[in-house]
Amino acid sequence: MDRELLRLQGISKTFGAVTAIEHVDLSVRRGEVVALLGDNGAGKSTLVKIISGGLQPTSGRYLFDGADRHLNSPQDAKQLGIETVYQDLSICMNVDVVANFFMGREIVRRVLGIPILQEAEMRQVTESVLRQAGTRIPSVKMNAEHLSGGQRQAIELNRFVHWGGKLVVLDEPFAALGVEQVRRSLDTIRDVRSKGIAVIIVTHNMSHAFEIADRMVVMRQGSVVGDVNTVDTSPEEIVRIITGTKPKASSHN
Ligand SMILES: Nc1ncnc2c1ncn2[C@@H]1O[C@H](COP(=O)(O)OP(=O)(O)OP(=O)(O)O)[C@@H](O)[C@H]1O
Ligand SMILES: [Mg+2]
Repeated sequence: MDRELLRLQGISKTFGAVTAIEHVDLSVRRGEVVALLGDNGAGKSTLVKIISGGLQPTSGRYLFDGADRHLNSPQDAKQLGIETVYQDLSICMNVDVVANFFMGREIVRRVLGIPILQEAEMRQVTESVLRQAGTRIPSVKMNAEHLSGGQRQAIELNRFVHWGGKLVVLDEPFAALGVEQVRRSLDTIRDVRSKGIAVIIVTHNMSHAFEIADRMVVMRQGSVVGDVNTVDTSPEEIVRIITGTKPKASSHN
């Protein structure tokens, strides 16, 4: 199978007179974690929104799973297996874990023509998926509002894996999390990667990026200015690429 999952070629986005991103090329392989780095206003969120269908590019080519795509909405992206994960936003607080897990995919059987929700079966599936993923939740009948941010994120990611997702996009997912929750979220991302799913993660935290990413893509003023394998670089070099400063001159020149 082709390892390449996503390929962007010459993607640009303008808002009136403002060019948010310009001629961006980006490729992401299955089972790869790519950290998207750059200073405030570099164009990361704009690029992420284009990838997840929330914004349409002004020009450029978007290939996913080997075919040209034109996404008109996040729903189009979802259908391709692209999910954008924010900390709390796509979990419904006032319904339980099972309802969140099956959101829009409820199991219904018709009995004498009357649709009946298969609650026991849905509960069983949810429990078994979360158990296998090592996510501990007191009860799947609990409303999501009583769970921690980390538990909600785990439900979101596991739901995505279970329904056949191929690419997860995370924009600053750890901003509101505590140390232990960040550690668990990083474990969840490793778990997702081991299933062959690709991950794009936007972060300002260099140590998180170095801990989780296979590759780092750096943006500056709307362009990609660096694309390096994590094992071949250092935090110092990444900071230099982000800020556009030159390395200190060595004694040889
Ligand atoms: N809807 C919009 N209308 C006009 N300009 C926009 C819009 N969205 C983004 N921009 C501009 O595009 C540029 C890139 O913004 P973007 O949000 O992608 O940056 P970012 O890299 O995510 O920054 P941060 O790290 O602060 O989140 C900025 O100059 C921003 O002002
Ligand atoms: Mg942003």
